[in-house]
Amino acid sequence: MQQYIQENKERFLSELLDLLRIPSVSADSKYKDDVRKAAEFICEKIQAAGADVAEICETAGHPIVYGEKIIDSSLPTVLVYGHYDVQPADPLNLWDSPPFEPVVKDEKIYARGACDDKGQVYMHIKAFETMMATNSLPCNVKFMIEGEEEVGSDNLGIFVKANKAKLAADVILISDTAIIANDIPSIDVGLRGLSYLEVEITGANRDLHSGVYGGAVANPINVLSKMIASLHDENGHITIPNFYDDVVELTPAQREAMAETPFNLDEYKKDLGIDDVRGEDGYTTLERASIRPTLDANGIWGGYIGEGAKTVLPSKASAKISMRLVPNQQSDKITALFTKHFESIAPAGVTVKVQPHHGGEPYVTPTDSKEYRAAEKAMEEAFGKKPVPTRGGGSIPIVALFEKELGLKTILMGFGLDSDAIHSPNEHYGLSNFYKGIETIPLFFKYYSV
Ligand code: BES
Ligand code: MN
Ligand code: MN
Repeated sequence: MQQYIQENKERFLSELLDLLRIPSVSADSKYKDDVRKAAEFICEKIQAAGADVAEICETAGHPIVYGEKIIDSSLPTVLVYGHYDVQPADPLNLWDSPPFEPVVKDEKIYARGACDDKGQVYMHIKAFETMMATNSLPCNVKFMIEGEEEVGSDNLGIFVKANKAKLAADVILISDTAIIANDIPSIDVGLRGLSYLEVEITGANRDLHSGVYGGAVANPINVLSKMIASLHDENGHITIPNFYDDVVELTPAQREAMAETPFNLDEYKKDLGIDDVRGEDGYTTLERASIRPTLDANGIWGGYIGEGAKTVLPSKASAKISMRLVPNQQSDKITALFTKHFESIAPAGVTVKVQPHHGGEPYVTPTDSKEYRAAEKAMEEAFGKKPVPTRGGGSIPIVALFEKELGLKTILMGFGLDSDAIHSPNEHYGLSNFYKGIETIPLFFKYYSV
């Protein structure tokens, strides 16, 4: 197997670079045809690697690629999930090289999607090819690679509910998360849930001269800023009534275990170029970024933002807000609590509109299972060190749905680094991470099948 990977290394990489050249931005309808091209590319490669079935499944949105290789129906089946869609690349001017013209520099691949998630999906396809070519696939495998993860996976949810028999499996395997460092392997055992919404404050029925009306009429930007600021108190707690009601607190023993996770605060600050961290009182940075819920404005706009000055009171101001949720918070419930509270704090003189976007539930992977032990052994063999279980801060909303609809647990065996700049300019993925993944995945299959 090692030898096959070694001999085909360059081709594996050049194929990934071809995939990265396709701008499959799911959020922007102008890339609709490119999103489909990426699906077709993935489908062809799954086929070529030796699958019995490789097909494009249509949805109301972007297509899902499904593939399978059933070697013996009495053996277990691993369902590999990933996404071939990517986040928008802007701001473009902050990229050192164009986002859809991948370059390899300093042993890293630079491109949008290099790590999240095309690079990591491609490891699975090449690991499958390797197992097929070396006659070492030890169990059945199914692939479900979607094109709408970055926009909430709504159509995948529908697909899963409608195709339970087709998707029957024993475990779900996903590489769409990170390890702590290249010499500190880890396995994510948690994902946060999400409530995402947009708010709009409207004042007067038109933009107004800020000299003629300023001071006498509510300014939606001033009002919105104050309302958003009031959503945290001075201790960094979220002020929405009942927001924390369902939050599962870690036990002191769990918190102690978490404090053992390798983490260097000085390096963290240095990497981000900040002089201090900031968050909820009483919790460490690692806790704030994984096992505690959050509320953040992700975008805010209104009024005049062109060149120079324009003296104007805008009629409207808006913001996009995300809340990351932890077990046992529920996305719909939190969205409702937010809406009620946000409407209640608006002063007279303005109206508020809250529009929910997507959501998703949190997830925790048990570590006392056959599949976790298989992942642990695979990582240990590939990295020469036992992986640390970590709770991740990001969200993959479909994971909780897999458990609900298919009754399956998920193993989050990712190979990225937090510093890979996913969703940011200059996203990259280490060549060694790419090859390490291709090497580790067959080991998971091997240990899971014994
Ligand atoms: N791969 C990420 C999620 C992730 C990143 C999990 C790092 C753990 C560590 C995924 O593609 C993603 O970005 N998810 C979105 C959610 C979605 C509904 C837009 C997110 O977390 O913002
Ligand atoms: Mn992802
Ligand atoms: Mn992402």
